[in-house]
Amino acid sequence: MEGPQSSTHVPSVLPLLLLLLLGPASYAVAQRCPQTCICDNSRRHVACRHQNLTEVPNTIPELTQELDLQGNMLKVIPPEAFQDLPYLTHLDLRHCRVELVAEGAFRGLGRLLLLNLASNRLSTLPQEALDGLRSLRRLELEGNMLEELRPGTFGALGALVTLNLAHNALVYLPAMAFQGLLRTRWLRLSHNALSVLAPEALAGLPALRRLSLQHNELQALPGAALSQARGLARLELGHNPLTYAGEEDGLALPGLRELTLEHGALQALGPRAFAHCPRLHTLDLRGNQLDTLPPLQGPGQLRRLRLQGNPLWCACRARPLLEWLARARVRSDGACRGPRRLRGEALDALRPADLRCPGHAAEAEEEEQERARAGPRGPPRPGNGEDAAAAPCPHACACVSETRHSSCEGRGLQAVPRGFPNDTQLLDLRRNLFPSVPRAAFPGLGHLVSLHLQHCGIAELEPGALAGLDRLIYLYLSDNQLSGLSAAALEGAPRLGYLYLEHNRFPQVPGAALRALPSLFSLHLQDNAVDHLAPGALAGARALRFLYLSGNRLTQVSPGALGPARELEKLYLDQNQLREVPTQALEGLPALLELQLSGNPLRALQDGAFQPVGRSLQHLFLNSSGLEQISPRAFSGLGPGLQSLHLQKNQLQALPALPSLSQLELIDLSGNPFHCDCQLLPLHRWLTGLNLRVGATCATPPSARGQRVKAAAAVFEPCPGWTARKAKQTPASRPSARRNPIKRRHQGADKVGKERGHL
Ligand SMILES: *[C@@H]1O[C@H](CO)[C@@H](O)[C@H](O)[C@H]1NC(C)=O
Ligand SMILES: *[C@@H]1O[C@H](CO)[C@@H](O)[C@H](O)[C@H]1NC(C)=O
Ligand SMILES: *[C@@H]1O[C@H](CO)[C@@H](O)[C@H](O)[C@H]1NC(C)=O
Repeated sequence: MEGPQSSTHVPSVLPLLLLLLLGPASYAVAQRCPQTCICDNSRRHVACRHQNLTEVPNTIPELTQELDLQGNMLKVIPPEAFQDLPYLTHLDLRHCRVELVAEGAFRGLGRLLLLNLASNRLSTLPQEALDGLRSLRRLELEGNMLEELRPGTFGALGALVTLNLAHNALVYLPAMAFQGLLRTRWLRLSHNALSVLAPEALAGLPALRRLSLQHNELQALPGAALSQARGLARLELGHNPLTYAGEEDGLALPGLRELTLEHGALQALGPRAFAHCPRLHTLDLRGNQLDTLPPLQGPGQLRRLRLQGNPLWCACRARPLLEWLARARVRSDGACRGPRRLRGEALDALRPADLRCPGHAAEAEEEEQERARAGPRGPPRPGNGEDAAAAPCPHACACVSETRHSSCEGRGLQAVPRGFPNDTQLLDLRRNLFPSVPRAAFPGLGHLVSLHLQHCGIAELEPGALAGLDRLIYLYLSDNQLSGLSAAALEGAPRLGYLYLEHNRFPQVPGAALRALPSLFSLHLQDNAVDHLAPGALAGARALRFLYLSGNRLTQVSPGALGPARELEKLYLDQNQLREVPTQALEGLPALLELQLSGNPLRALQDGAFQPVGRSLQHLFLNSSGLEQISPRAFSGLGPGLQSLHLQKNQLQALPALPSLSQLELIDLSGNPFHCDCQLLPLHRWLTGLNLRVGATCATPPSARGQRVKAAAAVFEPCPGWTARKAKQTPASRPSARRNPIKRRHQGADKVGKERGHL
């Protein structure tokens, strides 16, 4: 992904004159442009991108309005870092490796409208980090590592319209997290790990119109919290593991027009689930597990009901649905999965009379069998315990009843303390010393969602250590001394979804213990000593989606070792000792999206190495793998689904063209010693047609050294079969060769003859 190149005008004469007229002082100020930057005085725009700056240059012209510092290495934004730039309206600090924003960092920026801190490394925000930004309208914090928000963090941002917190690591939203955001209309919280919103989490957002919560871990509609945002018109809740929605969830949004719940795990919907959303117009339920749904009571303005990708069963039970759709004039787009007679029929095209009711014995039987196959409905949903007890708290710990967090981090404790408030949801015991965690070590914590036990010297988890943690979803055991887990070590936490075991001493995957975790979703085993994956290692892990085994000693992944995890989406096997792609082990992973194999001594790829996952794979990492040669058939099976291909830092002198990868958004070929002669013409051609920066550079022959494979016309023009795609381009349009190549390709096809003559 690349932003557009900033246009870099040479300062023109006119503004300079104006500045001269304004007096010597401002002239001098305007003149000081830091060496590493490009200043456009007329537009008051200064760009110092990708300069490895470790601090904000102190000679930026005072009148600057837009400052672009993307791609530097600031790490820390100290207090009042921009106090000499009072006119700033736009500040871009993306990709600056920022870990800390000090209190008062932006003080003095009372005119700032846009602050972009996306793609940094922030894990917390001090309470006063954003003070002074009273005009700010947009704050981008996407792609950081924020785990929690403290109430009051945004308190000074009374003008903020858009707050983007997507792609962070938020687990929980405490009450009053967004207090003070009086004008905020759009709050983006997608792609976090939110499983719980405190009932008052969205209080203090009177102007909120749109809320994005897709791709989180919500197991139930957080109705109480959502109903605080009474002005919401659009609510996005897709890609959450919701199994049921009903009136008891308490959703009441008088202005809601559009609700998306696509790709969740909905198995049933209560007829009054949206009874208190009277203006609902569009309801998106695509990709759930609904075999039917009841006529929805309440949303009288509903016009569009999206049901594609649900296993709709078009038999007697669906008659009320059809009757309602017709009566209420709701358009719907689902199709019948069965019975056979109606398979594939559009729901909208059926009349109630098309659905046969029992009486036809065969039909009734079929429906019954199908219902049996659909299985039971998911587990009951966690509630929001409302009764905040007058909280006890163990000595040496801090228990915050508002957030339901309890912490005894780094207190030198030698045993797990007892007596936490019984409604604690997050318990942080990091950096203590518990060589052995005894049975039932966390009594009375049935509401616990997240348990932190990193850096505790743990060598053993006794059987039943987690007993009673019925609602635990996140367990952090990284950076301990564990070398194994007994079969009963993880019993008692049946909902556990995320298990962090990285930086321990596991010589193998603790398969027996994992059987107690039917909901395990994400398993982190990086940086252990696992040397092979044997069949059965993941036998219990049927719900596993993400498996991280980077930085182990794997030399082998046996066929069948991953088989039980049929839902696996991400598989990280990078930085191991694999000498070949474990193709057979990839059989039976129909949903795999991302495969990380970088940093293995692969050297070569066998033909059809990725065939078993060719249809699903979107991201493939093969960088730093010592690859020397790639045969054209190595990637067979991979097609338009592939979005990124990482082949950087290998020993490739050549690469076949891969036209079947027609939808690539990223291909990295940098750091390879390409040999640029006519044999590389197909690659050159293919790359020219991709609208991407690819980083492929010629290393040999010496005459071509350093040229980009894509642009090395002198190398390829003399080749037989050369067809001049670029010959028509004027010199002026050439430098940004990646702007229009697609268009160029289409032009090229019918002009080949002419251009050849021309050459
Ligand atoms: C920044 O540092 C990297 C790595 O040290 C170096 O390759 C690059 O050329 C530097 N960029 C600038 C603009 O100095
Ligand atoms: C928590 O403890 C309080 C008082 O000890 C009790 O009233 C309450 O019911 C308990 N709540 C839960 C969820 O166990
Ligand atoms: C491979 O490339 C990705 C993306 O640039 C990077 O994150 C990863 O660290 C690389 N792996 C190795 C082993 O260099």
